[in-house]
Amino acid sequence: MHKGKDIILIAILSTVVPIVIAFSQNVSALSRLGTPGIKTSDQEDHRHGRPSPERIYRFNEQVVTVSDFEAEGYILAIGGGGEGIIGQLKGQQVVAIDISKRELEGTPPGPLKIVMDARDLKFLNGAFNTAASFFTLCYIDGADHEEVFEEIFRVLARGGRFLIWDAVFPEREDEKKDVAIIPLLVKLPDKEIATGYGVNWPDKARDLPYYMKLAENAGFKVGASAKKDQWFFLDLKKP
Ligand SMILES: C[S@@+](CC[C@H](N)C(=O)[O-])C[C@H]1O[C@@H](n2cnc3c(N)ncnc32)[C@H](O)[C@@H]1O
Repeated sequence: MHKGKDIILIAILSTVVPIVIAFSQNVSALSRLGTPGIKTSDQEDHRHGRPSPERIYRFNEQVVTVSDFEAEGYILAIGGGGEGIIGQLKGQQVVAIDISKRELEGTPPGPLKIVMDARDLKFLNGAFNTAASFFTLCYIDGADHEEVFEEIFRVLARGGRFLIWDAVFPEREDEKKDVAIIPLLVKLPDKEIATGYGVNWPDKARDLPYYMKLAENAGFKVGASAKKDQWFFLDLKKP
């Protein structure tokens, strides 16, 4: 690799990785790399728990436009900590749940913030008309996806919507690159937010058909869907 590229990579690692670490508390997140149970390479920087540059696949910057949407009553934001994009869009209408207290503490004010696991929502059946998940499913282990979809279906009222914006992971081409860094430019109606997420590359492809199948198995009907570059949007409905 050229020296110039090395310098760029080091710059990326020293800027993006700390952001990412701040964002990630769960099983499949980058911060767990270097902890027991996660495979690490010889080149890994064990002092900082950072993956070696050889392991990182960096997505092109994903420009994600999140348009305003109509919603009656409270909106449940799944994994609504961090930048809290749904909270920034819909403010006090949002109930943001996140497994990480620290992530919620760092989220801009507006939503009601509650520490809660998306696999075990503490709300009554049919409590919300709308649920939304912005780049949270990529942080949740694939083995837990079914449970999360079932829980969201349960807490939605009939006719309720579940809106998803998330990353598309094709099958991994380079076995060595098992960590993905996804720089994002999020375009909200009144502002733009530059951020970055980092996750372990999932074992199987996670594309639109993968999420549609999960949704349909949970009982949802697919309303609208769109794929752009390496992210997608899904608008699901509980019949
Ligand atoms: C990429 S980050 C934040 C994205 C966030 N939606 C935003 O708008 O910036 C994903 C979030 O999902 C949270 N998360 C991961 N697993 C979770 C779970 N099982 N239940 C709830 N939140 C979870 C993480 O703590 C993290 O804050």
